[in-house]
Amino acid sequence: MITCKIIAHRGLSSLAPENTLAAISLAAKNGAKWVEIDAVACGDGTIVMWHDNSVDRCSDSSGPISNFNAQSIKSLDCGSWFSKEYANEKMATIEQAILLIQELGMGLNLEFKLYQCTAKEVVAPVLDFLNTHWKDTDKLIISSFDQAALDYCHQNSPHFKRGMLYDKIPDNWLQQMQSIEAVSCHCHYLHLQQAQVVALKKAGYEVYCYTVNQPELVTEHWNWGIDAIFTDYPQRFEKQPLHI
Ligand code: G3P
Ligand code: MG
Repeated sequence: MITCKIIAHRGLSSLAPENTLAAISLAAKNGAKWVEIDAVACGDGTIVMWHDNSVDRCSDSSGPISNFNAQSIKSLDCGSWFSKEYANEKMATIEQAILLIQELGMGLNLEFKLYQCTAKEVVAPVLDFLNTHWKDTDKLIISSFDQAALDYCHQNSPHFKRGMLYDKIPDNWLQQMQSIEAVSCHCHYLHLQQAQVVALKKAGYEVYCYTVNQPELVTEHWNWGIDAIFTDYPQRFEKQPLHI
């Protein structure tokens, strides 16, 4: 069961460049207990903390992430697009991110994005690393929009908790969630309906909503029984009767 209600989305991504070590540290500094980050593969199999299939939006370069490798990511400035204060912030490997999050004592929702890669290429090296380095399985939930990524986790590291990630929850959600023995359903707050929350909770699942950047957007959702939200603005929830 998740022990907080507010998950800092891509780090504290409203105040620091998303999916960077700086965004994770700032989330911790501002009291966030859990953080969500994304994991994607570079061309040489290096797994990085990154959201997109390209580096265009969040760096000073361009091109698909598959054009980059462990060496060439070091030349990217992944902070100036956000603000001068973060100039030359580096793209972090997923290993660096995981170690920092654990050192800060935070919970981690690790989201795998496969894009053109296989589950084995993206997920296997990260599971190996987590199996060696991650200490508290209660503070880790792996999620993905890609069923293949979750199948791979289920088959190879069943002791790590899994969350199904949906935009709109499909009719066959129960079958999909049972097939990977999920503990949680992560879905877009806009499409979520009360009856779905009731059914999910009745079936024993936790329900997390993304990406909620104004507290009033989910006033009803809390009453329906959702467990947590992802937000770029945890600071806007400080006055809510919730613990961050
Ligand atoms: O994991 C919740 C949320 O991050 C899913 O969407 O596109 O922000 O990774 P996205
Ligand atoms: Mg994500």
